Amino acid sequence: MAFTIAVDGPAASGKGTISKALARELGFAHLDTGLLYRAVGRKVLDGVDPLEAAQALLAEDLENDALRTPEVAQAASKVAVLGDVRAALVDFQRAFARRAGGAVLDGRDIGTVICPEAEVKLFVTASAEVRAERRFRELSEKGIETSFDEVLADVRARDERDMGRAEAPLKPAEDAVHIDTSRLDVDAAFQAALAAVREKQEAQS
Ligand code: CDP
Repeated sequence: MAFTIAVDGPAASGKGTISKALARELGFAHLDTGLLYRAVGRKVLDGVDPLEAAQALLAEDLENDALRTPEVAQAASKVAVLGDVRAALVDFQRAFARRAGGAVLDGRDIGTVICPEAEVKLFVTASAEVRAERRFRELSEKGIETSFDEVLADVRARDERDMGRAEAPLKPAEDAVHIDTSRLDVDAAFQAALAAVREKQEAQS
């Protein structure tokens, strides 16, 4: 049976961590849709046309540690404003969302555009400072040289581009459960998300 959990939110809000933990707990498949845009952004940095890159995307393009850099994140949010690029990525995401056995997808427009019929929709947020602090720590651990101020500026620039675009802007679905992780540790955020899923599962049974 299909059961989709749509997890949307801004950069470094904790949506990826929550999504992975939910998928593990429930035995669902997980798709980090940001990787699709990052993989297209990476190719565009190499000189490929954005639409051609999106149309030619392969599963193995997503398994690349080099997609996690700030440079690629910015490139991703620039290609993500392009309607034809977004359209080229829709079918893959929708098929993933409705696969048998359940799926968790995290991104910006999962509950609003890709899967408005998702059984559970979460909107995960945190203050820009908290998010920048988390991302700064992640990047430092990976040996990527940057500063907190640079990361904060990067997060704010992407927030603005992601929320301000005409195509599938970042915004909560009307029926999304909001989780503000600014003051929650990883387990508390996961428990809040799991509670929303359990409530829906119980209502369905
Ligand atoms: O991990 P982080 O939250 O920093 O970024 P990401 O989820 O990997 O997404 C990178 C960029 O891709 C975002 O800034 C968005 O511009 C874009 N994106 C999108 O437009 N729609 C999605 N469903 C997922 C990502």
